[in-house]
Amino acid sequence: MMITDDPFLDAAKEVLRSNRLNHFTKPAPRLYPYQWNWDTGFISMAYALYDESKVYEEYQSLFAGQWSNGMLPQIIFHEESDAYFPGPDFWMTDRSKLVSDVNSSGITMPAVHGFVMLYLLTKTTNLDNTSRFLKYIIPHIIESHAFMYEYRDPAAEALPCIIHPWESGTDNSPLYDKSLSLINIDKDTLPEYIRKDLKYRNAASHRPDNTDYDRFVYLVDLFRTRDYNQKHIINDCPFVIQDPLFIALLNYSNEALIEICQFLNMDYSIIDEWYTATNEAMYSKLFGSRDRFAAYDFCNSEFIEGITSSSMMPALTVPLSTEETKAMFGSFENDFIRKAHPSCPTTMPSHSNYEANRYWRGPIWLNLNYLLYKVFNLHGKKEMTDRLIHDSIDLVRGNGFFEYFNASKGQNDIACGSPDFSWTAAMYIVFKNELQGNN
Ligand code: DGY
Repeated sequence: MMITDDPFLDAAKEVLRSNRLNHFTKPAPRLYPYQWNWDTGFISMAYALYDESKVYEEYQSLFAGQWSNGMLPQIIFHEESDAYFPGPDFWMTDRSKLVSDVNSSGITMPAVHGFVMLYLLTKTTNLDNTSRFLKYIIPHIIESHAFMYEYRDPAAEALPCIIHPWESGTDNSPLYDKSLSLINIDKDTLPEYIRKDLKYRNAASHRPDNTDYDRFVYLVDLFRTRDYNQKHIINDCPFVIQDPLFIALLNYSNEALIEICQFLNMDYSIIDEWYTATNEAMYSKLFGSRDRFAAYDFCNSEFIEGITSSSMMPALTVPLSTEETKAMFGSFENDFIRKAHPSCPTTMPSHSNYEANRYWRGPIWLNLNYLLYKVFNLHGKKEMTDRLIHDSIDLVRGNGFFEYFNASKGQNDIACGSPDFSWTAAMYIVFKNELQGNN
């Protein structure tokens, strides 16, 4: 049961209602006019609490864009719009024979759908309908995981890679700065393009800069000139990263899929193998002798040491000793929590590339607050768990349903990016539900 005496809950549902088009919810009213992959997952968690039929519709729409190699695209272009770059004309994914008959971009995004489906199963008020829906969708989600292990794991380490910052979900993170800076761009051969994201409020200081966009575009051009052949792309791509958030969410979803398959009496032996291998590899390679998880740059054969909140995320599934968790949480609280307010910045505030307002370079995002909340909860850190819930709720109440928020101490105008952002509204609904469950 939801709390019903909170006007912000009604406002949150209204944000979702007004961003909903035919059978899917766009992330924001103007900036993002299509269906985004991981946004659909976070948005559906809220629908799971008050209108399950919308979860089914969201997922049917999303998976209508799944490619025959299993890849679940980052963006599904259901409807025409000239409000966003790059749209279908730029992606040219019809160069691949693997596309579905719904237009999409040619890369993927973090695999959140396993744990979102477990969330649905846990919250459902109609077990018959939900079980029927899960029997239909789970095989497709498993195919999207198989894609990661088959095509994105070049050294067969069970650590699937991203090939574009947009695949990480945390596009502009300082984690990728060095790898991107090493890509040589020849302006004469770079396709011409016009950004459409710069016309909004504070866009110049909140959105990625043009140097990053040149690299984003360069990579898309590389993919389309290889006709989206994954083997050629992995061989030729100058940006191949083992990203701790991307891999952590895949394995968190693997874990959830095992539980769902057990419930539905479905075979999960392959998922079990992925789960164990990925946990072991995250621990041995990405944790190693550190006190947090690093990313690994495959092209330049070097670790990118932990500087973002993603460096904690593999603790969603990787078993750690008491000493290891103490060191990880201790350094995290020192670096991130004491130097900022409210919780939780996505980049360590004392890092030289921290930017308080810019896209994924420091600000708070409520979907990551939810995932951090799960990490702290799993490890019994009650103080941080409470803080993440209350800070997230207060951020929305004080500023509105913005896309992200400045985390630096003592700021006034902390709202960043798009207003009426769908997953901010959804996470508000989810956090309120958690609060009710915890009291
Ligand atoms: C954007 O356009 O900024 C999106 O994050 C890409 O997924």
